[in-house]
Amino acid sequence: MNAVSVNQAGSNTYAVGDSLLRAVNIFKSYRMGPVELKVLQNCTLNVDPGEFVAIMGKSGSGKSTLLHILGALDVPRKGQVHFLGQPIFAPPERRRLRTGITDIFSEAERRRNRLRRTAFGFVFQFYHLLPDLNVLENVLLQRMVESGTLEWGAKKREARQDALDLLEHVGLTERLKHKPNELSGGEHQRVAIARALVHKPRILFADEPTGNLDVEAGANIMSILSELHKGGQTIVMVTHDPAIAEYADRTLVLENGRLRPT
Ligand SMILES: Nc1ncnc2c1ncn2[C@@H]1O[C@H](COP(=O)(O)OP(=O)(O)O)[C@@H](O)[C@H]1O
Ligand SMILES: [Mg+2]
Repeated sequence: MNAVSVNQAGSNTYAVGDSLLRAVNIFKSYRMGPVELKVLQNCTLNVDPGEFVAIMGKSGSGKSTLLHILGALDVPRKGQVHFLGQPIFAPPERRRLRTGITDIFSEAERRRNRLRRTAFGFVFQFYHLLPDLNVLENVLLQRMVESGTLEWGAKKREARQDALDLLEHVGLTERLKHKPNELSGGEHQRVAIARALVHKPRILFADEPTGNLDVEAGANIMSILSELHKGGQTIVMVTHDPAIAEYADRTLVLENGRLRPT
């Protein structure tokens, strides 16, 4: 097989024919005292480059849990996610399952953190902008974190231009100095989209991106995502709303811990 190198996520090589993202036999449960809540029970999914995939399911069906695992924010109990043919998580017997705890001495954890920062972008229902930073700073922060203090001086100018271009693309050029509390819900989400894209992620993950918006602002967000998709951006989105899933190329349903086609 031919292997072509990619510029994101360090030294990965992409064997032609591999999926961009491939989740295999994913299991996840939460332990609540003596009770084990089984959320994902054998989920398998392929995402090809340039696809826009929607995952639908009722509230509580495990959509956010699955998206967080696909995007390396959370760790499955069993199963593996491959990005460009490489496993994201350590083998199950060496896996740390508690979220929020990362072992900086573990190569697998360092790799997972790097992927999250460089190859993946996230948009959440409740935006999660930092309240004390203005619109431009909220977007730029992502690139500062990625480059680290020493490199930031050299990269700042290019990062700022990328942020300005993206904010123009989402129609926020007039709002660069506004703080989040001076923005509407739709504007919050447009900042969040620019922030998610400023490091040019291979995959954009969106968790109910219109869930907190009125119909008009929601349609505006979906038209931005559609346009990004037409430009080649790979998108994986979860939603409970069939009208929102319509924007995707392909929809899967999460039910009883498993994924099935619609
Ligand atoms: N950190 C957690 N600890 C315990 N239970 C959780 C946790 N996160 C989610 N759950 C439970 O797992 C199930 C799936 O949650 P979630 O993935 O958020 O569903 P959805 O996004 O489809 O609404 C729900 O029953 C939820 O209460
Ligand atoms: Mg959710």
